[in-house]
Amino acid sequence: MTRVAVYPGSFDPITKGHEDLIQRSLGFVDKVVVAVAVNVAKQPLFSLDERVALIRQCVGDKRVEVQSFDGLLVEFAKKTGATVIVRGLRAVSDFEYEFQMALMNRNLGPEIETVFLVPAFDLTYLSSSLVREVARFGGDVSALVHPAVQQALKRKFAK
Ligand code: PNS
Repeated sequence: MTRVAVYPGSFDPITKGHEDLIQRSLGFVDKVVVAVAVNVAKQPLFSLDERVALIRQCVGDKRVEVQSFDGLLVEFAKKTGATVIVRGLRAVSDFEYEFQMALMNRNLGPEIETVFLVPAFDLTYLSSSLVREVARFGGDVSALVHPAVQQALKRKFAK
């Protein structure tokens, strides 16, 4: 039996924190489907195609697939044959939103379990929004994102 996890998010853009969680997930499943949300409440910096392409550039592992999804996450998880939803927990501030989402997803799809993973210590403070903010003002994000993402951010903010 192939164990599949879905790792959903906006990935606007993917950071080393996300990459770390993908690798950690491969420690307990055979395949990770990185699920890039079409409908993000906020206006994303990168288009859906750009976010998907950047993740593919950052993650070369054959056990990792990148797909976009629209609508309910649990429906997408069922379609991909996933039994696990992976989410990262960085700080207490993440907890309430994540707890709410996990319970709602259980309500919608009781057969799918949400698993929370803690990122590497030095990546705990990292978020896509912080990366965007630092890059927007010309700060160095080389330690926080893959070089492909760094280049993409440079191009975005060069305009
Ligand atoms: O990286 P983000 O922005 O915190 O990811 C949030 C995401 C995309 C995982 C969440 O908004 C989501 O699952 N959206 C799909 C719609 C859905 O299923 N909503 C019900 C779950 S509460």
